[in-house]
Amino acid sequence: RGVKKIAVIPGDGIGPEIMNEAVKVLRQVEQKFGYSFEFQFAMAGGGAIDQVGVPLPEETLSLCKSADAVLLGAVGGPKWDHNPPELRPEKALLGLRKELGLYANLRPVTLFDGMEDRSTLRPEVIAGVDLIVVRELTGGIYFGEKKRTKTEEGEIASDLLIYHEYEIERIVRLSFEMAMKRKKKLTSVDKANVLESSRLWRSVVERVAEEYPEVTVSHMLVDNCAMQIVRRPADFDVIVTENMFGDILSDEAAVITGSIGMLPSASLGQGNSGLYEPIHGSAPDIAGQKIANPSAMILSAAMLLRYSFDDEEAAQAVEKAVKAVIKAGHCTPDLAASGQKAVSTEEFGDLVAEQIEKAEREMS
Ligand code: NAD
Ligand code: IPM
Ligand code: MN
Repeated sequence: RGVKKIAVIPGDGIGPEIMNEAVKVLRQVEQKFGYSFEFQFAMAGGGAIDQVGVPLPEETLSLCKSADAVLLGAVGGPKWDHNPPELRPEKALLGLRKELGLYANLRPVTLFDGMEDRSTLRPEVIAGVDLIVVRELTGGIYFGEKKRTKTEEGEIASDLLIYHEYEIERIVRLSFEMAMKRKKKLTSVDKANVLESSRLWRSVVERVAEEYPEVTVSHMLVDNCAMQIVRRPADFDVIVTENMFGDILSDEAAVITGSIGMLPSASLGQGNSGLYEPIHGSAPDIAGQKIANPSAMILSAAMLLRYSFDDEEAAQAVEKAVKAVIKAGHCTPDLAASGQKAVSTEEFGDLVAEQIEKAEREMS
């Protein structure tokens, strides 16, 4: 499978802790599947602000551009929360997504065996959940013009929610293709009863839908979707939506799995290297305690193998290993049942790596 260059950005808070485990697991994959991974560590986020004065150093950006894929832990934290907009850690993430042209953010939500009783939702409600949120990632209100004006009546602030037709069309097309490979069910989520950008979004979905007659398409208003996602989550297959709605709905959907520490993501564009990161943040409230769940980070590495290296076999080996470890009753405190003894971040990573190694012995 050859030499691959992976840019690694551990980031802030729990970022470095979970990244250690993902790299450990990839080292095991390297052995088992005959890769030669070249990990190139880089700074971004709060750490980069502290060390070199900017959230996304030029060096980091060019490294990411030249790498075969990028792994990112998380950025941000209270230390930098009062920084001006250009000097916020989050700016690094937004800059990377935009500069690498990563317009499609895939956020799969699946319920793992043995975790049926860990969600705050009832087991019969979440049984069989297997959905994916396809979030538009380089447009919308995140990237439209921002303004702040002082007036005599006080300050005015605005964020422009803007979408070009081509931006909608490419993410919608990708979602139809995704639905064709899954249960052929697509839910497009918008706020077309109020927003003009949503009305354009809806008309694009309807036009593209004509090319995919096998896919059952429905439109759902985002407020209703926020409710349906916890009421009957198993009915969803592919959910496609704009940038901010996708951000919010995916954190909500994480509740189904029992912990936000379970949700990985892949950010893809055309040609460029993909970026892989958990959907959660830097979790400052638990940073340094060695209790963060590294699953989302490890499963993001699995997505890297799938989408950047086109290696379904290795991706599934990692996913199966995480599933097996969890099914055997090992998990970090966020997922532990009451009274259950939890393992540390590092122990969890060790178990996953061991599981991959064991699978190798069974095969050969
Ligand atoms: P968060 O996702 O960091 O944390 C929310 C809650 O979930 C916390 O209680 C946290 O302890 C818990 N949690 C998150 N990941 C966990 C894991 N792997 N294991 C166990 N528990 C976990 O969201 P927040 O607190 O709103 O944001 C904190 C910082 O992270 C902010 O600065 C925010 O901007 C940033 N952030 C970064 C990213 C990213 O880098 N991709 C994503 C979201 C938020
Ligand atoms: C995410 C995060 C980011 C987002 C922030 C940190 C900019 O919440 O990746 O979900 O809103 O996209
Ligand atoms: Mn988010």
